[in-house]
Amino acid sequence: MANLPFSDDAVPLELLRKRAFNLRWAQQPADVIPLTAADPDFPICPAIQEQLIRYVREGVLSYGPPEGMPQFREAVAQWMGATRRVDCTPEAVFATDSAASAMALVARACLKAGDEVLIPDPVDFLFHHTIERAGATPVRIAYSPSTTAEEFIAAMEERVTSQTRMLWLCSPHNPLGVVYQRKWLQSVAEWATKNKLRILSDEIWSDIVYPPNSHVSTASLSPEIARNTVTVYGFSKNFALAGLRVGCILCADPEWRKQIIAASDAESTVYGVSVLSQVAVIAALQQGRNWLTEFVRHLRGQRDYVLERLSQWPGVTVDPPQGTYVVFPDIRSLSDDSEKFCDHLREHARVALVPGAARWFGPGATGHVRICFATSRRILTEAFDRMEPVVKRIA
Ligand SMILES: Cc1ncc(COP(=O)(O)O)c(C=O)c1O
Repeated sequence: MANLPFSDDAVPLELLRKRAFNLRWAQQPADVIPLTAADPDFPICPAIQEQLIRYVREGVLSYGPPEGMPQFREAVAQWMGATRRVDCTPEAVFATDSAASAMALVARACLKAGDEVLIPDPVDFLFHHTIERAGATPVRIAYSPSTTAEEFIAAMEERVTSQTRMLWLCSPHNPLGVVYQRKWLQSVAEWATKNKLRILSDEIWSDIVYPPNSHVSTASLSPEIARNTVTVYGFSKNFALAGLRVGCILCADPEWRKQIIAASDAESTVYGVSVLSQVAVIAALQQGRNWLTEFVRHLRGQRDYVLERLSQWPGVTVDPPQGTYVVFPDIRSLSDDSEKFCDHLREHARVALVPGAARWFGPGATGHVRICFATSRRILTEAFDRMEPVVKRIA
């Protein structure tokens, strides 16, 4: 088992303790298991390692083109066509130094002080954070796995004003794990387009989807919706490349794209994506598909295991994630304060989770915790073996 990419022995714990930041191993006491930031514990696909080494050995590391290397844009466009039947040309792809900065760039290009943006509540903190940093105001629309498109649209209709400029969506959804179904997405995207609200569709999680669900890209719904949508995509979740800070924007409308590229400051070289990061992505997309398939297979087993273990937590309910590698149980039967609950677990079980605090996911996250399961079965088992007696004592 030792050499399989997602076996227990594949997790390089000593390296993670030195290198994995953002609430993870390097920032926790040595005996704490972090099931926190959504960043896999496994080493990257060997083809990526090989291509990075080859490129460095060749010895030329000059400036790349501002929009991204042609091979990068080509590889992303092909991947979109091959894996989700999205009609994407290389010209529509703009390389960014992470999905987070892709969101910030769209915000900078499209929003000004006083503008409002509709976002689901809960959703990842980057949504409200990025919109606020651009001087605009996030307007939260209550959302749960059972929210119908009609309910979501009715709630948006109540909150839309003359200042509303955009709708930001996230599918698969972090932290709820929902994969928006075609009809749901079609109704919501048509409503936004009809109301002249541009759409940002964050699809960074779109490769991590469990059968029978399948990802539907917003821009694939109709030519009109495609022209009205920027897609944010990335490589931190699917290929474990968070430290390379690389992502991209897909934008079919040439005018809008020009505006985004101008706002990026890549043409002046103030910003621009590391060529090595782009080389890693090209390798991932051209040679990493089997690795990714195995990763998703492993994650599916992990998801089922987490759901089974959570079913032993008294009164706790959870919607099974259709995608992503996070799960978001409702722990209100155990505690009405998820921050205190997480502090208690860290202290007594030596396991770190992310509390459903408004600063992380919005007020709609109250009473939940987020658990990341992109680790080995051994580590996940140990974490749940430690948490279960503590949880049962609380109950
Ligand atoms: C929904 C969502 N969007 C964007 C990001 C940011 O990804 P990146 O590491 O590419 O900045 C994350 C990372 O957690 C995420 O969950």
